[in-house]
Amino acid sequence: MIPLSVPNLAGNEWKYVKDCLDTNWVSSVGSYVNRMEELSATFCKVSNAIATSNGTAALHISLILSGVEKGDLVILPDITFVAPANVIKYMGADAVLIDIDKDTWQLDTALLARFLHEECLLQDNKCYHKQTKRRVAAVIPVHVLGNMVNMEKLLELAAAYHINVVEDATEALGSTYKGQPAGSFGLFGTLSYNGNKIITTGGGGMILTNDEILGKRAKHLTTQAKADNMEYYHDEVGYNYRLVNILAAMGVAQMEQLEGFVKRKQAITAFYNQELRTLPGFMPQVVTEHVAPNCWLYTAMFERAKELLNFLNANGVQTRPFWVPMNRLPAFKNDYYYNVADVSGVVYNNCLSLPCSTNITDAEAEQVVVNVKKFYA
Ligand SMILES: Cc1ncc(COP(=O)(O)O)c(C=O)c1O
Repeated sequence: MIPLSVPNLAGNEWKYVKDCLDTNWVSSVGSYVNRMEELSATFCKVSNAIATSNGTAALHISLILSGVEKGDLVILPDITFVAPANVIKYMGADAVLIDIDKDTWQLDTALLARFLHEECLLQDNKCYHKQTKRRVAAVIPVHVLGNMVNMEKLLELAAAYHINVVEDATEALGSTYKGQPAGSFGLFGTLSYNGNKIITTGGGGMILTNDEILGKRAKHLTTQAKADNMEYYHDEVGYNYRLVNILAAMGVAQMEQLEGFVKRKQAITAFYNQELRTLPGFMPQVVTEHVAPNCWLYTAMFERAKELLNFLNANGVQTRPFWVPMNRLPAFKNDYYYNVADVSGVVYNNCLSLPCSTNITDAEAEQVVVNVKKFYA
């Protein structure tokens, strides 16, 4: 089976993990955690990076520190991996699910503008949804598949309506918008290093922010809110959300290879786009203007996509469907789905993801193409 997207551990992973074991620094503090934070801050061009146990934890802390409260509304694209939607619920808030753009498959900023202009109002510098009188506290632009949301438009709307931006850059580490790295635009940006991401620590995440005070607060909350160096005095409810040194060691080794990984992903995408372009119903994701994408997970529309998915999986090519839109999941079906034409439903029905690990060989990528063509033949 040619796998969909698996880790590529060809660098210093063994060496750095062994160093942790040899020196007994395996737990929640250590030099690799510090190094991983420094490397991430530098790469993403932010002043603070706080390593977390996973990307969901990074989102959770970011929403807490963005001031989201019980009963608030938080804006999210209808197509995303489920984690940010879950985190909205952890806060006792609900989502406003904005449909996606039909070409880029990112949160549709024109639709967002319409929602804010027509259905919301500003009162005492806070944004309220007119019909429900609930505060719209935050927006989570998720950079889906490594492409990016139109950040200029999104930031302009968020500023006009006093809505905090928590940028879920999990899938877009290494992508840029107008040359600026994903994750560095919002009040917070978040990353994940789970097994299928462009770099992995097995499990892990990162909070990014340019706000010094919030950066310190994030570190405090992720380390059980311990307020004294010696005494076990905790000044608020805290969380055990830190990345451990042994995983950060993997992360440091992965960061050393990130630029090469991005190049490889881009090359795989260019290859598939070229080879598959004449197939029935084929439509690749259109890159948002001004974006240089990391091409994290190759996904495209095809005619009879669900049949093709089954055919490829039965023929040694691991293939996966796109995420079920949030409005169709039991936990979010009562949240407000703001759409005109249910684009997310159309994209979901017609998309699938193809193998694109950074260590896929050219022969394997060729084999994927041969099998897709065989299906249509
Ligand atoms: C967009 C997005 N946000 C958040 C997450 C959650 O990250 P984690 O699995 O590290 O909790 C993922 C993937 O796992 C994701 O794709």
